Amino acid sequence: MDIISNFAVFEGGDGSGTTTQLAILSERLKKAKKPAFFSTFEPTEGQIGKLIRRALKNEITIKPETLAFLFAADRNEHLHGENGILAHAARGELVVCDRYAMSSLVYQGIECGDELPLSLNSRFPAPETLIFLDIDPEIALARMKNRTSREIYEYREFQSKVREKYISLLEKYRSAGVRVETIDASKSVQEIGDQVWSIISQMPIFNT
Ligand code: TYD
Repeated sequence: MDIISNFAVFEGGDGSGTTTQLAILSERLKKAKKPAFFSTFEPTEGQIGKLIRRALKNEITIKPETLAFLFAADRNEHLHGENGILAHAARGELVVCDRYAMSSLVYQGIECGDELPLSLNSRFPAPETLIFLDIDPEIALARMKNRTSREIYEYREFQSKVREKYISLLEKYRSAGVRVETIDASKSVQEIGDQVWSIISQMPIFNT
């Protein structure tokens, strides 16, 4: 597995706080002024990402296998497209991303079996750092109960499988040379933010 230097990814089940933590990290990076950074997320805001979000909200019905292809297509564009992850990383920026290939191995792996997401994502290089926000699905879903609409994966049974699958796949990334860090995401937003900062600020780009 190739690794993209200066690339860090947040992963976790729904309601684990990846989006919140990316926002907090972005604020800290802005204040730090160095290194220059690019903060991004998947599914993206591109046309394929928008289609995916409609399917997640159940506005349109798309077969799980087709969705696996769409996530991979969205990712390919996100990675290789103009102003994408690789373009920013090539400029020497730190790229921080809310979800990436591991989300497909986990979510689509549960939905379609491992083979399809594995083969679709085998072409994507891995991040240098991967932060897994680990949380009991009960707590995560309770946190999300104020959200107005439910997405197709936001059910306890599914989220329990998501957590198990994340945990079972982390070792694979670790042995491929990715720095994998697990954070207890039931802690306060502030505590998690501090832990995230300590991990991210140890990336080699901070010493250049
Ligand atoms: P996300 O935007 O993190 O959730 P939210 O809308 O609550 O902020 O992700 C949307 C959903 O998409 C989430 O349930 C995880 C799922 N997902 C996949 O199933 N496969 C993927 O490859 C990715 C990137 C996300």
